[in-house]
Amino acid sequence: MNRSIIITGGAGFIGSHVVRLFVNKYPEYKIINLDKLTYAGNLANLKDVEDKPNYHFVRMDICDFEGVLKLMQEEHVDGVIHLAAESHVDRSIKDPFTFAQTNVMGTLSLLQAFKLHYEEVRSQESEDRMASRNHSDFCLRSTAFRFYHISTDEVYGALEMTHPEGIEPPFTTKASSGTHHLAYGERFFTEDLKYQPHSPYSASKASSDHFVRAFHDTYGLPTIITNCSNNYGPYQFPEKLIPLFINNIRHRKPLPVYGRGENVRDWLYVEDHARAIDLIFHEGKIGETYNIGGFNEWKNIDIIKVLINTVDRLLGRKEGEDMDLITYVTDRAGHDLRYAIDSSKLQRELGWEPSLQFEEGIEKTVRWYLDNQEWMDNVTSGDYLKYYEDMYAHR
Ligand code: NAD
Ligand code: DAU
Repeated sequence: MNRSIIITGGAGFIGSHVVRLFVNKYPEYKIINLDKLTYAGNLANLKDVEDKPNYHFVRMDICDFEGVLKLMQEEHVDGVIHLAAESHVDRSIKDPFTFAQTNVMGTLSLLQAFKLHYEEVRSQESEDRMASRNHSDFCLRSTAFRFYHISTDEVYGALEMTHPEGIEPPFTTKASSGTHHLAYGERFFTEDLKYQPHSPYSASKASSDHFVRAFHDTYGLPTIITNCSNNYGPYQFPEKLIPLFINNIRHRKPLPVYGRGENVRDWLYVEDHARAIDLIFHEGKIGETYNIGGFNEWKNIDIIKVLINTVDRLLGRKEGEDMDLITYVTDRAGHDLRYAIDSSKLQRELGWEPSLQFEEGIEKTVRWYLDNQEWMDNVTSGDYLKYYEDMYAHR
């Protein structure tokens, strides 16, 4: 089937992997990457697909309601995969307004535009149907319509660390680490948990999730939401832990570990997230929420040690010789203690499983950043230097 899909935030980290997957896998689809190109958007992330005939880039702000509606109408869009967002917790602590504007108002603007477009297509279809003699042959394009909102596990708040020493987890998946496979508490995030966001970032994402559900419940818009755990992999902006630390280790700069480094995150390779998005966009049930994660919990300090060992080894240094770069700094305000996703609903209902074990994923990731120093140099020049100074100089 020919489809016309807008992927918002396609020039960002996860979005670029989703665009690449869709452009390569579905040559018959028209893939429109709608991105404002903020500091986090980078067209260099998509160099390998930019000349493909089914790929189109539109520079636009999701808050531009009129522009988005016109684009949907002109391009006969039948699907939206919405990833555009302000995504960094530390920035949200310094500037919450931008997060409310993009993540809440931007999502609302997209929803409203898609709703108007959907209603127009449906009313046209019912007119055409009335005019047609053979009703049963009539193929309704609107049945394929989807608004798929990409959200985060942070909306659920933070889990307790009931077992700081680590316990056997209830599940293992391909994404779980083979050498380190522990859970740090008995509870996990499930889809039915109450939302308890703590940071301005997660509050804005929670609010956008509520709007998406409201548009489904009130107007019957065909929506789906997923909440994913921390992603890692190529093309992530080096404000986030993994690329920032790889780059600092390479340049032997201090590694600013917040608090005692005891906070726990649940890591998933970005291409496995993109594969889940593909599956859920095509086969997910309308109105549903699915959690995405790999049962791969790590304390920050442990993952930092893995990064140091891996970078040292790949650069031909003595493994572990850069451990003294670890520098404990003032904790993040409101720092969530532990995230751990239970993705068993997705596995049970749609058969999704991660494809890459953590050890392979982290090795691939470190290699990618070391091999793509030019990409890193480009994104760490200019404004980044000021960002780094503001965020870390007096920490
Ligand atoms: P990112 O910051 O790398 O990319 C965001 C993209 O959105 C950029 O290309 C940016 O230019 C674009 N954008 C920002 N504001 C825009 C606007 N007003 N209009 C149009 N485009 C705009 O983000 P990411 O890490 O790839 O995250 C993508 C999505 O996935 C976000 O919605 C995020 O909340 C969610 N998510 C991220 C993770 C993670 O670990 N990174 C995990 C779960 C969910
Ligand atoms: O859980 C999903 C979320 O994961 C996404 O929704 C967010 O968009 C994404 O940014 C990520 O949020 P985190 O805050 O967990 O990611 P970050 O890489 O910023 O931090 C990971 C952990 O490392 C966190 O406990 C804070 C810590 N940290 C981070 C940085 C940048 C440090 O100790 N030092 C640092 O310099």
